[in-house]
Amino acid sequence: MPGIDRVSVDEAMREVEQAMLVGVTRFLFFGIPDEKDVVGTRAWASDEAVQCMVTELDTRFPEAQTITDVCMCEYTSHGHCGKLTNDGEVDNDATLPLLAKTAVSHAKAGADIVAPSAMMDGQVAAIRTALDDAGHHDVKILGYSAKYASAFYGPFRDAAGSAPSFGDRKSYQMAPSQCYEAMQEIEADVSEGADYIMVKPALSYLDVIASARANFPNTPLYAYNVSGEYAMIHAAAANGWIDLKNGALEVLLSIKRAGAENIISYFAIDAARWIKGIA
Ligand code: PBG
Ligand code: ZN
Repeated sequence: MPGIDRVSVDEAMREVEQAMLVGVTRFLFFGIPDEKDVVGTRAWASDEAVQCMVTELDTRFPEAQTITDVCMCEYTSHGHCGKLTNDGEVDNDATLPLLAKTAVSHAKAGADIVAPSAMMDGQVAAIRTALDDAGHHDVKILGYSAKYASAFYGPFRDAAGSAPSFGDRKSYQMAPSQCYEAMQEIEADVSEGADYIMVKPALSYLDVIASARANFPNTPLYAYNVSGEYAMIHAAAANGWIDLKNGALEVLLSIKRAGAENIISYFAIDAARWIKGIA
């Protein structure tokens, strides 16, 4: 991914500083552990990268907001988003306590918002209960509510080494042909206590964003402009086929026009500079 690197906690703080200077104040963190295992034990380790990052950021930039991705796929040796049964299928219910433990460890480190992205049924409720039991009533939940089984996650999985080692994610992520199902998934997250909802990816799902905005007018909506969407604009620009700045801003604008008031994007810092006219 052009311009995007995996960084240490120290390097991340320098990136954060640059971002804050141009007005980007909310950050979503993913971690890549040194060692992965079958259950993804490092996901809830208090000394793992995400936990350290959040604590450091809280101390150095108290005005910034931290969001943490809560999923197992960066931490499991098989790359699936949850615990497996003996038959090699993802075990929804056995995964819930692991996601809950992970979210609590992020909250303990100081996360403002936890964002479960595993697409396990009941994950928002399990996390809300665990956060409340641990006294983290003020930590918010951003549900990756409508997350599709998309081809556009490729560059991210490359970077995180999180591509499934067998099979795919179609048993837990949504089929791209469905829009109504997305509304049901969002409804479930909201009823389980999600403070914010999300549609992901963004560009191929602008209709889903618009439907979510119309059907859930009282819940802040995020859209995730994912790695493949970022990489393809860069690739076209590198080939001289489209203009990077205008292409990227047009896509971001379309996501906003569809109804997302919060956009998660690898273009965030560039976009802030472009919009503010900073070279
Ligand atoms: C973890 C997760 C993924 C992304 C965000 N959280 C990967 C996946 O579901 O395979 C993708 C982000 C991107 O492509 O930018 N489940
Ligand atoms: Zn995952």
